[in-house]
Parts: sequence; C-alpha cells; structure tokens
Amino acid sequence: MSITFISEHNVFKLDGKDYTYLIGVYDNRYLLTLYYGKKIEIVDPSRLMVTRELGFSPSPHEDFYRRDRSLDTMLQECPTFGYGDFRIPSIMIEQENGSRCLDLRYKSYEFLSDKPLISQMPSLKEDDHCDSLKITLKDEVSGVEVDLFYNVYQNRNVLTRHLKIRNTGKEKLIISKAMSCSFDLRDNQFDLLQLIGTHCEERHIEVTPLRHGISKIESRRCTSSHMLNPFMALCRKDVNEYNGEVYGINLVYSGNYEGTIEVDQRHTTRVQMGIGSFDFAWPLMANEVFETPEVVMVYSPNGLNAMSQTFHDLYNDCLLKKHYHHPIVVNNWEATYFDFNEEKLTKLIESAKGLGIETFVLDDGWFAKRNNDESSLGDWVVNTQKLPNGLEKIADICKKNKLGFGLWFEPEMISEESSLYKNHPEYAIRISNRPHLYSRCQLVLDLSKKEVCDYIIKAISDVVDNLPITYIKWDFNRNITETQNKQLCHKYVLGLYYVLDAITSKYPNIMIEGCSGGGGRFDPAMLYYTPQIWTSDDTDAIERLYIQYGTSIVYPPTSMVGHVSVTPNHQTGRVTPFKTRGIVAMSANFGYELNPQVLSEAEQEMVKAQTKEYQHLRKVIYNSSFYRLRSPYKGNDCAWSFVSKNKKEVYVMYVRILNAATNEFDYLLLKGLDEKKIYLDVANNVKYTGSELMNVGLLLPRHPYDFNGIMYHFKEVRE
Ligand code: DGJ
Repeated sequence: MSITFISEHNVFKLDGKDYTYLIGVYDNRYLLTLYYGKKIEIVDPSRLMVTRELGFSPSPHEDFYRRDRSLDTMLQECPTFGYGDFRIPSIMIEQENGSRCLDLRYKSYEFLSDKPLISQMPSLKEDDHCDSLKITLKDEVSGVEVDLFYNVYQNRNVLTRHLKIRNTGKEKLIISKAMSCSFDLRDNQFDLLQLIGTHCEERHIEVTPLRHGISKIESRRCTSSHMLNPFMALCRKDVNEYNGEVYGINLVYSGNYEGTIEVDQRHTTRVQMGIGSFDFAWPLMANEVFETPEVVMVYSPNGLNAMSQTFHDLYNDCLLKKHYHHPIVVNNWEATYFDFNEEKLTKLIESAKGLGIETFVLDDGWFAKRNNDESSLGDWVVNTQKLPNGLEKIADICKKNKLGFGLWFEPEMISEESSLYKNHPEYAIRISNRPHLYSRCQLVLDLSKKEVCDYIIKAISDVVDNLPITYIKWDFNRNITETQNKQLCHKYVLGLYYVLDAITSKYPNIMIEGCSGGGGRFDPAMLYYTPQIWTSDDTDAIERLYIQYGTSIVYPPTSMVGHVSVTPNHQTGRVTPFKTRGIVAMSANFGYELNPQVLSEAEQEMVKAQTKEYQHLRKVIYNSSFYRLRSPYKGNDCAWSFVSKNKKEVYVMYVRILNAATNEFDYLLLKGLDEKKIYLDVANNVKYTGSELMNVGLLLPRHPYDFNGIMYHFKEVRE
C-alpha cells in the first residue's frame, strides 16, 4: 500500500517510486502539506506541523491566545479566502450574503478501492499499482464540502489529483475558483520552466528564475492554446537533463486553465493548477456537485529527462489508447491546399503506391463550396464540383492502391456562408446584441448546447457510415470569443468531450489525429481521444527541432505527428536535405505532406528506404525510452535517441544546424544503454560497448553542408 494514515501523528504518507508526500491534519482542523520531495522515512512527521507567530497574520477565532496559529503561515493543501491566509486561495466560493469566506476543516478520509473516474471528463487509467485516497473537508457555515482525491502510482513518480465540491447547504453558491491541486513547498529555490509559443512555433522551452509574488501561466482562449501549454515545472537551480530535483505539473483539460506559483513573505512556494478562474463563475445549487479535471504531478530526483520519461511512460500506458494503428500517411494539404480535383488526387494517390505509404489523408476543401477558407464549414457533404464521383471514388482509388483512406473535418466550426448557418444561425457562439467576430473567416459552434453536439455527431456519422474511412484529422482553427456567460468555456469543453466520447465509442478503430492549426490543442485530455496530434503547421525540419524537443518535455514522441514536406519549405523558405527532413519527421508518427509526383527518382528511392526503416523504427519507438542528448536551445545542433526498453536496440538521431569549416572532433555521448552489451552500428558495421558509447561517445563525421542529419541504428550483438 502506497498510502498510509499514521494515526498517532494524524499524518497521511503517500509514497511513489522515489517521492514521499506528507499531508498533516493540524489540530484535527487544517490540512497541511508537510513535505513533497525525495522518498523518506520519518520518525515523527507531526514535527513538520510547525507554527510561529508572524506580524499581521491573523488567527482563527478559537485561537485568541495562540498568535502562532495562522493559516497565513501554514503550508496548506486546500487554501481558501477570507480566513487568514493572504496568499492565493485554491477555492473561492461566493455565498448568498456576498461572503467569499470559507473555513474548510478536516472531516474524514477514505481509502478507495478503485481510482475514481471524473464525470464528463477524461482521466488517466490506473495501472496495477495505483492507490487512491479521498480526504473530505467541510465549511459548516456555508455547507461547502470538498473531497480531495489523491492517486499514487506507486511504481512511478506520479501523483494525480482532482477535487469535488458539494453544496450540502440550502443556498445557491457561486464557484469562481476551484484548482485541481494546490500544495506549498518550504522554500523558493527554483527556476520555472514553461512551454511557450505561437502558431507555427509551439512549445518552445523558457526557463526563468522564480521571484516573489505571483508567476502565472494561463489560457483565456477556451482551448489549451499554442501560446502556453498547460504544463509547468519547478526545477532546482542545479537542474539539467540528468541531475537535480524537478516537479512537473500537467493538466488533463482542453479549455481555459491556470497554473500559478506564489512565493510569499516567508519565501515558501505555493503551486496550483486547474480550470482558469479568469471569467469563470459556476453556480452550485443545493445538493449539486462540481468536479475539477485531473492534474498530473511528476517528481524527478534525476533531472528533466527522467521527468519527461515518467510522463511519457505514464501517458503511453495509462492515457493513449493502445489498439490504434498509427499509419504512415500522405496528406495533400501542402501538396494542393484547396486546389484539387478528382484527377489531381488520383495521380497523387497513384504516385504513393509502392512507396511504403499506408494511408492517404484528404485534407480541407473536399466539402460543399469549400474552395478557400471563407465558406462551408458545417456542411459536411461532398464538393461535387471538385469530386463529381464523390468521396466513394477517392476511397476506391485508395483501395486499389492499397492505401487506407483518411478525411479532414473541422467539426466544431461553422461558416456564415453555409447551409448550416442559414438553417441554424443560433448554433454559432455569439453575443446576441453584437455583430460576429471572425477569425479565419469562421465562427465556432456552441458546444455548450446538447443539440449542437448531437448535430456534430450525426454529421460526422453520416459521412463515416458510408465510406471505408480508417483515419480522421480533427482540426480546430480559431479560438473562442464572445462568451456570453462565465460558464460557457467550461460547458464547451464538456460538450467537446461528449462529442469525442460518442465518436470514439462508435468508431473505435478509426484513428483520429488531433490538430488545431498544428499544435494549438496539445494536451493530455485531447490525447485521450486523439492519440496523435499534428505537432505544428510549421513543417520546416530545423524549426521542428525546437518544437519537437520542447514538446518532448511532457508528451511522448508516440503522440506527435511529423511529416516530410517539400523544399523550399512553405513556412520558412529554407532548403534542407531530404534525409534530414526524414530523420526529424520519423521521430514522431511519420508521414509526408507533399505530392509524391514532384519527387525526383532519387527522392522516391529515399521515401522507400524511409518508410521501410520507419516500419521497424516505430516498433522500437512504441516500446522505448526517449533521451534528449543535445539541445538546439543551447547550441548549434540537436540530438536525441530511442532506447528499447530491453536496451537491445537503439536509434540515435542527430542534426547539425549551421555548418563550419573547422574539422572538429565531436563525440556524442549516448544515454540509457546497457554498459556491458556490445552494440553494432548496423549501417557502418562497427561494434561498441555500451559503456564506450556512454562515456567515450560516438565520433560524429565531418558535416558536408548546413542542416546535415544523421541517424544511427544500433543492435545488441553477442560476441
Ligand atoms: C490547419 C492544419 O494545421 C493544417 O494542417 C490544415 O489541415 C489546415 N488547417 C486546413 O485548413
């Protein structure tokens, strides 16, 4: 059992693989974070419930003579507003008399036999060694009861949390803040790592020293966003990829969120993450319950790479559905954009035959009058001008050429110029007395309404039921504005999960690739439904180094999609070697974003070699540990590797960015191998010991030009 209640000290002890988390019940009243860090045994954990008097820190009413007792100075698990703690609360609830004060006191605890599901939202599956605890707190005056849930994955460095708020009183309450987790650390000696970006530049790594006051990441776009991923890490000052303590936190949610850190007057650090409280208010009537999404907390005593591996293994094992086939695709977006017809597509599909490509994905532009991005979203009927023989004909051509058939949808959107809008203008999100606000000329369907969700499910089913579709690309190309009320964003997200639940249950074998103008909705909740996500609309291999490297901080390569596109690259104009483009794309779920007809014979041969290699590589990737070896953020090159879990097989990818005339001796040190094994460099037929590759390294060749990419494949050989 990884969770124990030490009754003589009133302390809960939660033990993961390398961490301990201690929660104390102070004076049978308040729930305190006593410790979160490296795994420990402790004689008397109640010693950690230290209180000291501090000026201007008020005491609860029964502690008139105990000035040392103040919620303002204690390290808390579920801080509230108005009862002495001036730091950020994790819960704010307005009562009918206008008070937002809550005095949440310990009521009870329960060990749960199963990890609880969260109503209407996706959450992680338990593994064979997961224990769950519920602690209940209550404010007697308002009747607010809060259940705090803790799930300890005892063989991993993972703790997940969420909470339930119950109105046991008679009044109407309004929740304006409800964080999925809050905990206090005893010092502030951390840097904050966050994943920042924009469209075509997602999840770049930014590290800043923690300062006093509040540091915050958030999204106010009703989506997890390109700009700030719902992830943050607190890193000890000496952290690098392989050393030092890191606390990583990721929210399983796709809407407005916030991650907040406050360093207070005593230099302690409060950490919180949950649904965004910006423009949020949720009425809670008597007997109603509100649940928050799940937050995943990972502790690493051994640097960033170990933290990432913990997230990767957890998401591979307990989040991403396993039964899907991840095919090598060719997608026509960059090959044709909107400008295609049956003849063009036929040639494109035929030219993919024999190259090892497994699925053709028909992107935007196949429906209604969609010849540019100004119309037709919502009308999911074929564009007969372009495809007079319907999608059936395209599916047929795919079949003849032994390719699966995939189709693009942007189900959550509506164009003003569409039959759907003519018949149901009320389906679009808007403020009734104001004109529409456009983004990419389109509007968003109001998924907070059940009839709109049901329309989407039916519209997709009507297409999919009549075609042999094996793959869907689910796009989302604008953020949400004009939210008429403070519940809309959360209700929208719940509606989205309702739709995705329905579609994935109805079509369990159709692989859905998630997309939001690239990686604008790359979060664990979307990954639950769409087990691979188009990582970015930027297909330039060099820019992708930064994007995929940053994404790998949390999300496994098995969840990313990477495609080889033509050069000059459509986003940057850069010309990179075909081989390099392949190496970068193959480190994600692999495919092509081009018309194979435009490739030279030599390039077509390279495609055949790449797809053959990838068919083997993907088996390794899906059962491997990922190592970041050189960061593009720190130098002029980038390197990473996949080491199979049994350490018998290794792929190493290396990309040099700009070349130099100097003929340097550059040894790349590998990680995670078996010191004693002998590894054969398959292409060059050279043998190395594991200890040699990790300590002497691999001598890189002289680079012939800029953007040179090299891929090594090692296999264990027996002497
Ligand atoms: C944005 C996506 O990221 C692209 O790959 C493509 O599908 C376009 N939308 C189509 O409109």
